[in-house]
Amino acid sequence: MILINFKTYEQSTGNNAVALAKQCEEAAVEAGKKAIVVPQTVDIFRVKQACTLPIYAQHADEIDFGSHTGHMLIQGLKQAGAEGTIINHSENRISMEKIGMIIEKCKERDFKVLVCAQDPEEVGEISKLAPDYVAYEPPELIGGDISVSSAKPELITESVEKAGDIPLIVGAGVKNTEDVEIGKKLGAEGILVASGVVKAENPKEAVLQLMKGM
Ligand code: G3P
Repeated sequence: MILINFKTYEQSTGNNAVALAKQCEEAAVEAGKKAIVVPQTVDIFRVKQACTLPIYAQHADEIDFGSHTGHMLIQGLKQAGAEGTIINHSENRISMEKIGMIIEKCKERDFKVLVCAQDPEEVGEISKLAPDYVAYEPPELIGGDISVSSAKPELITESVEKAGDIPLIVGAGVKNTEDVEIGKKLGAEGILVASGVVKAENPKEAVLQLMKGM
């Protein structure tokens, strides 16, 4: 599968988030492949109204209903239309203790959770907490033109081993069919991509190119 992280780019905010999600959906339908869109929390509801692809949030908290100003309530994210969440992205790191609590709450509430890790050791540590997915993304390659597949293939292999039974997703700098093919060959079960799609001149075409490698 391919997860498209919208981050907070102008091209993926507000009405642009809806247009982008629709392009991702068109590509997924045309290619017959699975895609998950990851818009900003404020855009989940509007994306849900316009697009049939599964939606993940960019973050969630372990809190319950109550007085928790500014936190991301899983039940609220579900009601907005999300099926799951990413947590511990390199751009929004949290403690291992909090990761454990969020995974537990997501399970209780039937909400998928993908936890990001910066290196194979962290992949191993997080995998012991049994999230639905673990993603390996070397921070220094995020948003750049050199992909994890070309720069760190050996660390993808190591991450797959460390992940054990937890499906491993890879991301950072992923831009083309070959990047996806290499990840898949090394044992990754999906990719996490942002700039290669969000900032592409033709996002639908960019998704189709990535899907060719799946
Ligand atoms: O979550 C995806 C991400 O951090 C990778 O970003 O722009 O390198 O595809 P990018």
